[in-house]
Amino acid sequence: MRHPVGDPQPEGDDPATDALRQTSDQEWPWIQLESSNQKKVSDAVKISEVRSLVQLRKPEPDRIERTLRRCVTIEDLQHAAWRRWPRSVRGYVEGGADGEVSLARNRAAYEALGLVPSPLRDVTEVDLRTSILGGDSTLPFALAPTGYTRMMHPDGESAVARAARDAGVPYTMSTMATTRLENVAGEVGGDLWFQLYVWRDRGLVRDLLERAKASGYRALMLTVDTPVTGLRVRDVHNGFTIPPQLSASTVLDMARHPMWCARLLVGPAITFANFAPEVGRSPEGLMEFAAKQFDPSVTWEDLAWIRGLWQGPLMVKGLVSAQDAARAVEVGVDAVVLSNHGGRQLDQVVVPLQMLPAVRDQVGDKIEVYVDSGIRRGSDIAIALALGADAVLVGRPYLYGLGAAGERGVAASISMLGDELRRAMTLMGVTSVAQLRAEGSALVRSLPSG
Ligand SMILES: Cc1cc2nc3c(=O)[nH]c(=O)nc-3n(C[C@H](O)[C@H](O)[C@H](O)COP(=O)(O)O)c2cc1C
Repeated sequence: MRHPVGDPQPEGDDPATDALRQTSDQEWPWIQLESSNQKKVSDAVKISEVRSLVQLRKPEPDRIERTLRRCVTIEDLQHAAWRRWPRSVRGYVEGGADGEVSLARNRAAYEALGLVPSPLRDVTEVDLRTSILGGDSTLPFALAPTGYTRMMHPDGESAVARAARDAGVPYTMSTMATTRLENVAGEVGGDLWFQLYVWRDRGLVRDLLERAKASGYRALMLTVDTPVTGLRVRDVHNGFTIPPQLSASTVLDMARHPMWCARLLVGPAITFANFAPEVGRSPEGLMEFAAKQFDPSVTWEDLAWIRGLWQGPLMVKGLVSAQDAARAVEVGVDAVVLSNHGGRQLDQVVVPLQMLPAVRDQVGDKIEVYVDSGIRRGSDIAIALALGADAVLVGRPYLYGLGAAGERGVAASISMLGDELRRAMTLMGVTSVAQLRAEGSALVRSLPSG
Protein backbone atom coordinates (compact mmCIF):
# COMPACT_ATOMS: atom_id res chain seq x y z
CA MET A 1 0.00 0.00 0.00
CA ARG A 2 1.36 3.43 -0.92
CA HIS A 3 0.62 6.58 1.04
CA PRO A 4 1.20 10.18 -0.03
CA VAL A 5 3.94 11.85 2.01
CA GLY A 6 3.56 15.50 1.05
CA ASP A 7 6.10 17.86 -0.51
CA PRO A 8 9.70 16.75 -0.25
CA GLN A 9 11.96 19.13 1.68
CA PRO A 10 14.98 20.44 -0.16
CA GLU A 11 17.99 18.25 0.51
CA GLY A 12 20.32 19.55 3.21
CA ASP A 13 17.69 21.38 5.24
CA ASP A 14 17.00 18.64 7.65
CA PRO A 15 19.57 16.05 8.75
CA ALA A 16 16.91 13.54 9.82
CA THR A 17 15.13 13.41 6.47
CA ASP A 18 18.48 13.57 4.67
CA ALA A 19 19.55 10.49 6.59
CA LEU A 20 16.37 8.73 5.57
CA ARG A 21 16.90 9.68 1.93
CA GLN A 22 20.42 8.36 2.02
CA THR A 23 19.42 5.01 3.52
CA SER A 24 19.27 2.35 0.83
CA ASP A 25 16.04 0.45 0.28
CA GLN A 26 17.93 -2.78 0.95
CA GLU A 27 18.40 -1.67 4.53
CA TRP A 28 14.85 -0.34 4.81
CA PRO A 29 12.84 -2.64 2.52
CA TRP A 30 9.50 -1.11 3.50
CA ILE A 31 10.65 2.33 2.35
CA GLN A 32 10.86 2.69 -1.40
CA LEU A 33 13.01 5.50 -2.72
CA GLU A 34 12.13 7.21 -5.96
CA SER A 35 15.22 8.00 -7.98
CA SER A 36 14.80 11.40 -9.56
CA ASN A 37 16.80 14.64 -9.20
CA GLN A 38 14.97 15.30 -5.97
CA LYS A 39 14.99 11.98 -4.21
CA LYS A 40 12.06 11.75 -1.83
CA VAL A 41 10.82 9.32 0.67
CA SER A 42 8.04 7.69 -1.29
CA ASP A 43 4.57 6.97 -0.09
CA ALA A 44 5.50 3.51 1.15
CA VAL A 45 4.94 4.72 4.72
CA LYS A 46 2.91 7.48 6.34
CA ILE A 47 4.93 10.50 7.45
CA SER A 48 3.41 10.05 10.89
CA GLU A 49 5.00 6.57 11.01
CA VAL A 50 8.36 8.02 10.00
CA ARG A 51 8.00 10.72 12.63
CA SER A 52 7.56 8.08 15.29
CA LEU A 53 10.83 6.48 14.19
CA VAL A 54 12.96 9.59 13.86
CA GLN A 55 12.82 13.06 15.32
CA LEU A 56 12.63 15.67 12.61
CA ARG A 57 14.58 18.79 13.44
CA LYS A 58 13.15 22.17 12.42
CA PRO A 59 15.37 24.16 10.07
CA GLU A 60 17.51 26.59 12.09
CA PRO A 61 16.87 30.21 11.02
CA ASP A 62 19.91 31.64 12.85
CA ARG A 63 22.92 31.42 10.53
CA ILE A 64 25.45 31.43 13.36
CA GLU A 65 23.60 28.70 15.20
CA ARG A 66 23.49 26.66 11.98
CA THR A 67 27.27 27.01 11.64
CA LEU A 68 27.89 26.12 15.26
CA ARG A 69 25.65 23.05 15.11
CA ARG A 70 27.90 21.64 12.44
CA CYS A 71 31.05 22.29 14.47
CA VAL A 72 32.04 19.55 16.87
CA THR A 73 35.78 20.12 17.01
CA ILE A 74 38.27 22.97 16.73
CA GLU A 75 39.05 21.62 13.27
CA ASP A 76 35.40 22.13 12.29
CA LEU A 77 35.60 25.75 13.49
CA GLN A 78 38.81 26.14 11.52
CA HIS A 79 37.09 25.02 8.32
CA ALA A 80 34.10 27.25 8.99
CA ALA A 81 36.46 30.21 9.50
CA TRP A 82 38.32 29.38 6.30
CA ARG A 83 35.08 29.66 4.35
CA ARG A 84 34.58 33.20 5.66
CA TRP A 85 38.13 34.57 5.46
CA PRO A 86 39.84 35.88 2.36
CA ARG A 87 42.96 33.91 1.52
CA SER A 88 45.24 36.61 2.92
CA VAL A 89 43.57 36.55 6.36
CA ARG A 90 43.60 32.76 6.42
CA GLY A 91 47.30 32.83 5.49
CA TYR A 92 48.03 35.36 8.24
CA VAL A 93 46.38 33.22 10.92
CA GLU A 94 47.63 29.85 9.74
CA GLY A 95 51.08 30.79 8.59
CA GLY A 96 54.36 29.92 10.25
CA ALA A 97 57.83 31.32 9.60
CA ASP A 98 60.09 30.32 6.72
CA GLY A 99 59.60 26.64 5.85
CA GLU A 100 56.91 26.19 8.55
CA VAL A 101 58.91 23.34 10.07
CA SER A 102 58.16 24.46 13.64
CA LEU A 103 54.51 24.90 12.80
CA ALA A 104 54.25 21.27 11.70
CA ARG A 105 56.40 19.96 14.55
CA ASN A 106 54.28 21.72 17.16
CA ARG A 107 51.36 19.48 16.20
CA ALA A 108 53.46 16.39 15.57
CA ALA A 109 54.92 16.60 19.10
CA TYR A 110 51.48 16.20 20.70
CA GLU A 111 50.42 13.49 18.29
CA ALA A 112 53.58 11.49 19.02
CA LEU A 113 52.53 11.03 22.64
CA GLY A 114 50.10 8.53 24.10
CA LEU A 115 48.02 8.76 27.26
CA VAL A 116 48.12 5.92 29.80
CA PRO A 117 44.68 5.63 31.43
CA SER A 118 43.98 4.08 34.83
CA PRO A 119 40.41 2.78 34.67
CA LEU A 120 38.40 1.40 37.60
CA ARG A 121 38.53 4.65 39.52
CA ASP A 122 35.49 6.69 40.47
CA VAL A 123 35.33 9.50 37.92
CA THR A 124 31.78 10.67 38.58
CA GLU A 125 33.00 14.17 39.38
CA VAL A 126 35.77 15.75 37.33
CA ASP A 127 36.84 19.24 38.37
CA LEU A 128 38.67 21.38 35.84
CA ARG A 129 38.96 24.48 38.02
CA THR A 130 42.39 25.70 38.88
CA SER A 131 44.36 28.76 39.89
CA ILE A 132 46.40 30.55 37.23
CA LEU A 133 48.83 33.21 38.39
CA GLY A 134 46.89 33.66 41.61
CA GLY A 135 43.49 34.04 39.90
CA ASP A 136 40.67 31.50 39.75
CA SER A 137 40.04 29.96 36.36
CA THR A 138 37.27 27.53 35.45
CA LEU A 139 39.63 25.77 33.04
CA PRO A 140 43.40 25.23 33.02
CA PHE A 141 44.03 27.47 30.04
CA ALA A 142 44.16 31.11 29.02
CA LEU A 143 43.66 32.80 25.66
CA ALA A 144 46.99 33.84 24.16
CA PRO A 145 47.61 37.33 22.77
CA THR A 146 46.97 37.69 19.03
CA GLY A 147 47.38 40.85 17.00
CA TYR A 148 45.12 42.33 14.30
CA THR A 149 42.12 40.48 15.70
CA ARG A 150 39.49 42.65 14.03
CA MET A 151 40.73 41.32 10.69
CA MET A 152 39.33 37.92 11.68
CA HIS A 153 35.97 39.33 12.74
CA PRO A 154 34.81 42.94 13.18
CA ASP A 155 33.94 42.34 16.84
CA GLY A 156 37.61 41.45 17.38
CA GLU A 157 39.17 41.69 20.82
CA SER A 158 35.94 42.70 22.58
CA ALA A 159 34.19 39.53 21.37
CA VAL A 160 37.11 37.37 22.51
CA ALA A 161 37.27 39.11 25.90
CA ARG A 162 33.52 38.68 26.46
CA ALA A 163 33.65 34.97 25.65
CA ALA A 164 36.66 34.51 27.96
CA ARG A 165 35.01 36.48 30.77
CA ASP A 166 31.77 34.49 30.47
CA ALA A 167 33.66 31.19 30.43
CA GLY A 168 35.79 32.27 33.40
CA VAL A 169 39.23 32.05 31.78
CA PRO A 170 41.94 34.73 31.39
CA TYR A 171 42.33 36.65 28.14
CA THR A 172 45.54 38.35 27.03
CA MET A 173 45.21 41.58 25.06
CA SER A 174 48.02 42.05 22.58
CA THR A 175 50.12 45.18 22.16
CA MET A 176 49.12 44.82 18.48
CA ALA A 177 45.40 44.81 19.27
CA THR A 178 42.95 46.53 16.96
CA THR A 179 40.78 47.67 19.90
CA ARG A 180 41.99 50.09 22.58
CA LEU A 181 43.03 48.32 25.78
CA GLU A 182 40.89 50.80 27.80
CA ASN A 183 37.77 49.88 25.81
CA VAL A 184 38.12 46.16 26.42
CA ALA A 185 38.79 46.68 30.13
CA GLY A 186 35.99 49.23 30.55
CA GLU A 187 33.32 47.53 28.48
CA VAL A 188 34.08 43.87 29.11
CA GLY A 189 36.31 43.23 32.11
CA GLY A 190 37.08 39.70 33.31
CA ASP A 191 40.52 38.35 34.16
CA LEU A 192 42.50 40.48 31.70
CA TRP A 193 46.21 40.20 31.04
CA PHE A 194 48.20 42.61 28.90
CA GLN A 195 50.91 41.46 26.51
CA LEU A 196 53.78 43.86 25.96
CA TYR A 197 56.59 44.13 23.45
CA VAL A 198 59.59 46.19 24.54
CA TRP A 199 59.71 48.60 21.62
CA ARG A 200 62.41 50.97 20.54
CA ASP A 201 60.39 53.85 21.90
CA ARG A 202 60.70 53.08 25.63
CA GLY A 203 58.46 56.04 26.42
CA LEU A 204 55.68 54.31 24.50
CA VAL A 205 56.35 51.11 26.44
CA ARG A 206 56.16 52.87 29.81
CA ASP A 207 53.01 54.64 28.69
CA LEU A 208 51.31 51.38 27.57
CA LEU A 209 52.24 49.77 30.85
CA GLU A 210 50.75 52.59 32.89
CA ARG A 211 47.58 52.57 30.82
CA ALA A 212 47.23 48.81 31.29
CA LYS A 213 47.70 49.19 35.03
CA ALA A 214 45.24 52.08 35.27
CA SER A 215 42.61 50.18 33.26
CA GLY A 216 42.70 47.16 35.57
CA TYR A 217 44.77 44.58 33.69
CA ARG A 218 45.72 42.07 36.35
CA ALA A 219 48.88 40.62 34.85
CA LEU A 220 51.57 41.56 32.37
CA MET A 221 53.05 39.22 29.77
CA LEU A 222 56.30 40.32 28.20
CA THR A 223 56.93 38.63 24.84
CA VAL A 224 60.65 38.22 24.16
CA ASP A 225 60.88 36.03 21.05
CA THR A 226 60.43 38.92 18.63
CA PRO A 227 63.62 41.01 18.27
CA VAL A 228 62.55 41.09 14.61
CA THR A 229 59.41 39.69 13.03
CA GLY A 230 59.70 36.24 11.49
CA LEU A 231 59.35 35.88 7.76
CA ARG A 232 55.81 34.66 7.10
CA VAL A 233 56.09 33.51 3.54
CA ARG A 234 52.34 33.17 3.08
CA ASP A 235 51.84 36.84 3.97
CA VAL A 236 54.37 37.89 1.35
CA HIS A 237 52.79 35.66 -1.30
CA ASN A 238 49.29 36.87 -0.44
CA GLY A 239 50.20 40.55 -0.19
CA PHE A 240 48.82 40.66 3.35
CA THR A 241 48.87 44.20 4.74
CA ILE A 242 47.19 46.18 7.52
CA PRO A 243 44.95 47.81 6.47
CA PRO A 244 44.24 45.63 3.41
CA GLN A 245 45.59 47.16 0.22
CA LEU A 246 43.97 46.66 -3.12
CA SER A 247 45.75 44.92 -5.96
CA ALA A 248 44.34 42.76 -8.76
CA SER A 249 44.70 39.57 -6.76
CA THR A 250 43.49 40.97 -3.41
CA VAL A 251 40.42 42.48 -5.10
CA LEU A 252 39.60 39.07 -6.57
CA ASP A 253 40.21 37.40 -3.22
CA MET A 254 37.96 39.88 -1.44
CA ALA A 255 35.27 39.66 -4.09
CA ARG A 256 34.91 36.02 -3.19
CA HIS A 257 34.21 37.02 0.43
CA PRO A 258 31.68 39.84 0.17
CA MET A 259 30.39 39.42 3.72
CA TRP A 260 33.86 39.81 5.21
CA CYS A 261 34.47 42.89 3.01
CA ALA A 262 31.14 44.48 3.86
CA ARG A 263 31.78 44.10 7.58
CA LEU A 264 35.26 45.53 7.24
CA LEU A 265 33.99 48.53 5.34
CA VAL A 266 31.21 49.46 7.76
CA GLY A 267 33.34 49.06 10.92
CA PRO A 268 35.91 51.53 12.25
CA ALA A 269 39.20 51.52 10.32
CA ILE A 270 41.59 48.77 11.32
CA THR A 271 44.61 50.18 13.09
CA PHE A 272 46.89 49.42 16.02
CA ALA A 273 44.41 50.99 18.37
CA ASN A 274 46.75 51.15 21.37
CA PHE A 275 49.04 53.65 19.69
CA ALA A 276 46.93 55.07 16.91
CA PRO A 277 48.17 58.69 17.42
CA GLU A 278 51.82 57.61 17.15
CA VAL A 279 51.03 55.65 13.98
CA GLY A 280 49.15 58.65 12.64
CA ARG A 281 52.17 60.92 13.16
CA SER A 282 54.53 58.43 11.53
CA PRO A 283 55.36 58.96 7.84
CA GLU A 284 55.36 55.19 7.10
CA GLY A 285 52.42 52.84 6.86
CA LEU A 286 51.04 50.86 9.76
CA MET A 287 53.02 47.70 9.19
CA GLU A 288 56.31 49.49 8.57
CA PHE A 289 55.80 51.49 11.75
CA ALA A 290 55.21 48.32 13.78
CA ALA A 291 58.07 46.41 12.15
CA LYS A 292 60.47 49.23 12.97
CA GLN A 293 59.38 49.29 16.59
CA PHE A 294 60.55 45.72 17.29
CA ASP A 295 63.85 46.23 19.04
CA PRO A 296 66.73 43.78 18.55
CA SER A 297 68.66 45.41 21.41
CA VAL A 298 66.28 44.18 24.16
CA THR A 299 68.10 42.21 26.89
CA TRP A 300 67.63 40.77 30.37
CA GLU A 301 68.19 44.30 31.71
CA ASP A 302 64.98 45.39 30.01
CA LEU A 303 63.15 42.52 31.67
CA ALA A 304 64.49 43.71 35.02
CA TRP A 305 63.40 47.27 34.12
CA ILE A 306 59.87 46.03 33.38
CA ARG A 307 59.89 44.05 36.64
CA GLY A 308 60.60 47.32 38.43
CA LEU A 309 57.76 49.12 36.70
CA TRP A 310 55.05 46.45 37.09
CA GLN A 311 54.12 45.43 40.61
CA GLY A 312 51.48 42.85 39.62
CA PRO A 313 52.03 39.31 38.30
CA LEU A 314 54.60 39.24 35.50
CA MET A 315 55.08 36.53 32.87
CA VAL A 316 57.77 36.23 30.26
CA LYS A 317 56.67 34.56 27.02
CA GLY A 318 58.88 33.05 24.38
CA LEU A 319 61.60 31.32 26.39
CA VAL A 320 62.15 27.63 25.77
CA SER A 321 65.27 26.55 27.67
CA ALA A 322 65.64 25.50 31.31
CA GLN A 323 68.63 27.81 31.66
CA ASP A 324 66.63 30.86 30.59
CA ALA A 325 63.73 29.86 32.83
CA ALA A 326 66.15 29.79 35.78
CA ARG A 327 67.40 33.25 34.85
CA ALA A 328 63.82 34.52 34.67
CA VAL A 329 63.31 33.26 38.24
CA GLU A 330 66.30 35.36 39.32
CA VAL A 331 64.82 38.46 37.71
CA GLY A 332 61.69 37.88 39.74
CA VAL A 333 59.04 36.90 37.20
CA ASP A 334 56.01 34.97 38.40
CA ALA A 335 55.63 32.67 35.39
CA VAL A 336 57.21 31.69 32.11
CA VAL A 337 55.29 30.84 28.95
CA LEU A 338 57.26 28.29 26.96
CA SER A 339 56.35 29.28 23.43
CA ASN A 340 57.66 29.37 19.87
CA HIS A 341 54.95 31.88 18.96
CA GLY A 342 52.92 29.16 17.26
CA GLY A 343 55.80 28.51 14.82
CA ARG A 344 55.71 32.11 13.59
CA GLN A 345 59.15 33.39 14.63
CA LEU A 346 62.33 31.26 14.57
CA ASP A 347 61.73 28.29 12.31
CA GLN A 348 63.18 24.90 13.28
CA VAL A 349 63.20 26.01 16.90
CA VAL A 350 62.46 23.28 19.44
CA VAL A 351 58.86 22.48 20.32
CA PRO A 352 58.05 24.07 23.71
CA LEU A 353 56.31 20.90 24.92
CA GLN A 354 59.54 18.94 24.53
CA MET A 355 61.37 21.40 26.78
CA LEU A 356 58.68 21.43 29.45
CA PRO A 357 59.87 18.56 31.70
CA ALA A 358 63.40 19.99 31.87
CA VAL A 359 62.09 23.49 32.62
CA ARG A 360 59.82 22.17 35.34
CA ASP A 361 62.73 20.25 36.91
CA GLN A 362 64.85 23.37 36.80
CA VAL A 363 62.42 25.85 38.34
CA GLY A 364 60.51 23.49 40.66
CA ASP A 365 57.61 25.32 42.28
CA LYS A 366 59.33 28.72 42.39
CA ILE A 367 57.28 30.04 39.47
CA GLU A 368 54.40 28.83 37.32
CA VAL A 369 55.11 27.33 33.92
CA TYR A 370 52.73 27.57 30.97
CA VAL A 371 53.16 26.18 27.49
CA ASP A 372 51.62 26.99 24.12
CA SER A 373 52.08 26.30 20.39
CA GLY A 374 50.14 23.49 18.78
CA ILE A 375 47.38 22.80 21.30
CA ARG A 376 44.19 21.89 19.45
CA ARG A 377 42.38 19.36 21.65
CA GLY A 378 41.54 18.68 25.26
CA SER A 379 43.86 15.68 25.23
CA ASP A 380 46.75 18.00 24.28
CA ILE A 381 46.02 20.05 27.38
CA ALA A 382 46.01 16.86 29.49
CA ILE A 383 49.43 15.95 28.06
CA ALA A 384 50.91 19.38 28.80
CA LEU A 385 49.61 19.42 32.37
CA ALA A 386 50.86 15.89 32.98
CA LEU A 387 54.30 16.87 31.69
CA GLY A 388 54.56 19.73 34.16
CA ALA A 389 52.61 22.76 32.96
CA ASP A 390 50.44 24.66 35.44
CA ALA A 391 48.26 25.77 32.55
CA VAL A 392 48.41 26.22 28.78
CA LEU A 393 47.70 29.02 26.33
CA VAL A 394 45.78 28.66 23.07
CA GLY A 395 46.02 31.02 20.11
CA ARG A 396 44.61 29.86 16.79
CA PRO A 397 41.82 27.68 18.28
CA TYR A 398 39.89 30.71 19.51
CA LEU A 399 40.65 32.68 16.34
CA TYR A 400 38.96 29.90 14.37
CA GLY A 401 35.91 30.27 16.62
CA LEU A 402 35.99 34.03 16.15
CA GLY A 403 36.24 33.75 12.37
CA ALA A 404 33.50 31.14 12.18
CA ALA A 405 30.92 32.76 14.44
CA GLY A 406 32.19 35.82 16.32
CA GLU A 407 31.83 35.84 20.09
CA ARG A 408 29.66 32.70 20.07
CA GLY A 409 32.34 30.94 18.07
CA VAL A 410 35.00 31.88 20.62
CA ALA A 411 32.70 30.62 23.37
CA ALA A 412 32.24 27.39 21.40
CA SER A 413 36.00 26.93 21.06
CA ILE A 414 36.50 27.36 24.80
CA SER A 415 33.75 24.94 25.71
CA MET A 416 34.93 22.38 23.13
CA LEU A 417 38.42 22.37 24.66
CA GLY A 418 36.95 22.19 28.16
CA ASP A 419 34.57 19.35 27.27
CA GLU A 420 37.31 17.43 25.52
CA LEU A 421 39.64 17.83 28.48
CA ARG A 422 36.91 16.70 30.88
CA ARG A 423 36.17 13.63 28.74
CA ALA A 424 39.87 12.81 28.37
CA MET A 425 40.41 13.07 32.14
CA THR A 426 37.32 10.96 32.84
CA LEU A 427 38.56 8.28 30.48
CA MET A 428 42.03 8.48 32.00
CA GLY A 429 40.72 8.00 35.54
CA VAL A 430 41.77 11.46 36.70
CA THR A 431 39.37 13.78 38.52
CA SER A 432 41.24 17.06 39.00
CA VAL A 433 43.95 19.25 37.53
CA ALA A 434 46.00 18.73 40.71
CA GLN A 435 45.77 14.93 40.30
CA LEU A 436 46.70 15.18 36.62
CA ARG A 437 49.78 17.15 37.55
CA ALA A 438 50.64 14.93 40.52
CA GLU A 439 50.48 11.68 38.53
CA GLY A 440 52.45 13.54 35.88
CA SER A 441 54.61 11.79 33.35
CA ALA A 442 53.31 8.34 34.40
CA LEU A 443 50.24 9.27 32.36
CA VAL A 444 52.16 9.94 29.13
CA ARG A 445 54.30 7.74 26.91
CA SER A 446 56.07 8.56 23.69
CA LEU A 447 55.04 6.41 20.78
CA PRO A 448 57.51 4.72 18.47
CA SER A 449 57.95 6.98 15.43
CA GLY A 450 57.00 5.90 11.93
C1 LIG B 1 47.39 35.43 14.23
C2 LIG B 1 48.30 35.41 15.39
C3 LIG B 1 48.73 36.60 15.96
C4 LIG B 1 49.58 36.59 17.07
N1 LIG B 1 49.93 37.78 17.65
C5 LIG B 1 50.69 37.76 18.78
C6 LIG B 1 50.98 38.97 19.47
O1 LIG B 1 50.54 40.05 19.09
N2 LIG B 1 51.76 38.89 20.58
C7 LIG B 1 52.25 37.69 21.05
O2 LIG B 1 52.95 37.66 22.06
N3 LIG B 1 51.97 36.53 20.42
C8 LIG B 1 51.20 36.54 19.31
N4 LIG B 1 50.89 35.36 18.70
C9 LIG B 1 51.35 34.07 19.27
C10 LIG B 1 50.31 33.55 20.27
O3 LIG B 1 50.27 34.36 21.42
C11 LIG B 1 50.63 32.12 20.72
O4 LIG B 1 51.94 32.06 21.21
C12 LIG B 1 50.45 31.09 19.60
O5 LIG B 1 49.32 31.40 18.82
C13 LIG B 1 50.29 29.71 20.20
O6 LIG B 1 50.21 28.74 19.22
P1 LIG B 1 48.83 28.14 18.65
O7 LIG B 1 48.30 29.17 17.71
O8 LIG B 1 49.26 26.91 17.96
O9 LIG B 1 47.91 27.91 19.83
C14 LIG B 1 50.04 35.35 17.58
C15 LIG B 1 49.61 34.16 17.00
C16 LIG B 1 48.75 34.18 15.92
C17 LIG B 1 48.29 32.87 15.34
